[in-house]
Amino acid sequence: MTNQTSDSSSLAALRARSQQVLRDNDRGGYTVPSAKLYPFQWNWDAGVTALGWMSFDEPRAWQELRMLFRGQWDNGLVPHIVFHQHADSYFPGPDQWGVPHTPPTSSISQPPLLATMVRLMLERAADRAGAEAAARELLPKLVASHRWWYRERDPAQSGLVASFHPWESGVDNSPAWDAPLAVVPPATRTYQRRDTQLVNAAQRPHKAEYDRFLALVDLFRELDFDGAKIYAQSPYRVADFGLNAILQRATLDLAALCRQYGQAEGAAELDAHAARARPALLGCWSESLQQYVSRDLITGQPLERRVHSGFLAWYARLDDPRHDALLRSSLAGWLERAPFGLASTHPDAPQFEPQRYWRGPVWPHFNWLIAEGCAHYGMADLHDRLRDDTQRLLQGAGLYEYFNPHTGEGYGGDNFSWTAAIALHWLDSPR
Ligand code: GLC
Repeated sequence: MTNQTSDSSSLAALRARSQQVLRDNDRGGYTVPSAKLYPFQWNWDAGVTALGWMSFDEPRAWQELRMLFRGQWDNGLVPHIVFHQHADSYFPGPDQWGVPHTPPTSSISQPPLLATMVRLMLERAADRAGAEAAARELLPKLVASHRWWYRERDPAQSGLVASFHPWESGVDNSPAWDAPLAVVPPATRTYQRRDTQLVNAAQRPHKAEYDRFLALVDLFRELDFDGAKIYAQSPYRVADFGLNAILQRATLDLAALCRQYGQAEGAAELDAHAARARPALLGCWSESLQQYVSRDLITGQPLERRVHSGFLAWYARLDDPRHDALLRSSLAGWLERAPFGLASTHPDAPQFEPQRYWRGPVWPHFNWLIAEGCAHYGMADLHDRLRDDTQRLLQGAGLYEYFNPHTGEGYGGDNFSWTAAIALHWLDSPR
């Protein structure tokens, strides 16, 4: 076999395997991220997973998003978990969150990439009529969710929305949250984690973090999920650069969708939010680290940690030539420090742990978010490096949740949905 034939047959095998993972994780219209570890529907996973379904079953792709919005609250919040059906293998389940909604949900959100996924799905759709109908149906729900972020999470109109829980960032135990989480009084009640029964504990967050994750869940329930009270009383309030960058991009995409569907007023409102957010995002630049960083909104201090979310500036279309050039050389250097990039925490940072979840491992969908921005700004070399490293990981280790950047070993859940979805999306993208 020539190299090219063996490449194309192994890419065909990756495609077949990825489609199978999504089919196996389908629970009748929504996709669980991983059969045992995450047996419900997650917010940003659903967005990425819908993009993966788009490559081989368009109606099913739109269905993923429709199902997620069944969990949307009247105030616009799209929860981070929708508990469509009962399952025992996850903690904290619906009884812990205590949210009075049908279907039951968690009480926090997640990085809002859905509007961007809808726009990408529309661009790819072969069934134009089906896609247009789905997009029209989703549009008001997306607008309501963006209004929720701006109203509830940035009442002072600073341009940056607050997150109330590390889980809301999607990068649960990132070193960026160490300082703000340390001041949260830990839960003292006894509880039984399920994740460490399913996955090696060395690859999961520490107990000290979990005690605080749970304390915040308890606090939100005690405050009746009242956004204003939580904003005032939560001991954890962070302007997460990654979440705000993802929101910014989604707002730009949602404004474009509103214009496309004749909703000029909605578009103007979203444009105004984006115009306010851009300088605030640019203000997250750290001269000492030469990258964008998050901020603790309680102390006002920047969270100076070398984590990969700073590279979402391109995805967010921030357009700052000086910062972009510095970031470009920083990304190239970061990739040189591990054969399977991109490490979620810089390998030279003292907090780097190559096997522990968001403290070092490579995450395929995050690679894609960063690479998408690289491609947009003409950095094809960096885009291709991220794509090829990701494919090499998946072909070598399998469709795991995350990977060791030094050894390429796969960790966490196997047969993972958004990993499969990104494989499919990249296989379908022009080379
Ligand atoms: C973990 C991840 C989060 C993801 C969820 C389901 O909590 O940190 O980003 O959405 O698992 O895959």
